[in-house]
Amino acid sequence: SAAEKGGYDYFMLKEIAEQPRAVADTLLGRIDPSGSLTLDEVRISPSELREIDKVVIVACGTAFHAGLIAKYAIEHWTRIPCEVELASEFRYRDPILDGRSLVIAISQSGETMDTLMALRHAREQGSKVLAICNTNGSTIPRESDAVLYTHAGPEVAVASTKAFLTQLVACYLVALYLGQVRGTKWGDEIQAVIKDLSRISEEVERVLETMEPVRALARTLASKNTVLFLGRHVGYPVALEGALKLKELAYMHAEGFAAGELKHGPIALIEEDLPVVVVVPSPRGRSVLHDKIVSNIQEIRARGARTIVIAEEGDETVVPYADHLIRIPATPTLLQPLVATVPLQVFACELATARGNEVDQPRNLAKSVTVE
Ligand code: G6P
Repeated sequence: SAAEKGGYDYFMLKEIAEQPRAVADTLLGRIDPSGSLTLDEVRISPSELREIDKVVIVACGTAFHAGLIAKYAIEHWTRIPCEVELASEFRYRDPILDGRSLVIAISQSGETMDTLMALRHAREQGSKVLAICNTNGSTIPRESDAVLYTHAGPEVAVASTKAFLTQLVACYLVALYLGQVRGTKWGDEIQAVIKDLSRISEEVERVLETMEPVRALARTLASKNTVLFLGRHVGYPVALEGALKLKELAYMHAEGFAAGELKHGPIALIEEDLPVVVVVPSPRGRSVLHDKIVSNIQEIRARGARTIVIAEEGDETVVPYADHLIRIPATPTLLQPLVATVPLQVFACELATARGNEVDQPRNLAKSVTVE
């Protein structure tokens, strides 16, 4: 009913708007006043966590994209090798696991059969399993050694939005916690990022306040057949998620690519007026990546692409090459997905509406897939 949707036309719009709150709730009580992390629900002891020599993340769909982003954070802050695998592929390839592997199963519903089967396989190999889950008491956390709940609240729309942002928060918390417990050389950076994370929900709110031009742009693209998404580093999984949202909701051909791969194939797809969304990393921090992606934008624009550029406030270098410029707040590089994903959700939702699609219940999809 309209009341359930809190005055929004669709649950998806309501859930997009709830993201600042969902992010804040997921952080609540997990960062103590001294700026260190307390993750009480993780029932794998610090001494066991110090023994871990490999992390393997398993998930499906949008949760898989959260896992891809987690890999960058985990490897950087903990120096533990991390693999990310589609749950449906995992157990069939005879993965190498033992008692020193930590398997992280990410699932909004906690009932996805592919993910459940992957975690059962991991436990049979003697690995510890940590669930990141949004549904209290669901099967995946019940069968895991430990759980870190996301506090997104119930997500009704089939396309995942607020659950995704809270999965990212949970992944950052796990990465930072592992870094903290293991005392890596990134101690100072970890402290700084914990501070940034505690302010990030305000940044998500600021992004939401500036979404009208994104909606207007989406409406002008309603008759297009294809949209491409490019990103690098953590912007690459963001590009994949932007493309997935567009497939799910707008039923458009959408593909995400690592921008560095452009020259190895995807650039052949560029033609006059093809919309290409580019997620630009911060010019601070890993500035080499920033400069490389700016030249990618120049290359595709020279070939006629219509460039839709998502870039940090104050990044002026992209201005001459952006047909459409979407600004996001400055964040540490690894946290950028929390703000960069939001415009892509709004974009897909508005395109779906403009194309007359059912936003909350896209054709052929289910909220939770309980068959393999
Ligand atoms: C389904 C949903 C997706 C979701 C995926 C994984 O395909 O339509 O939105 O990302 O399942 O769901 P989970 O509940 O395991 O996060």
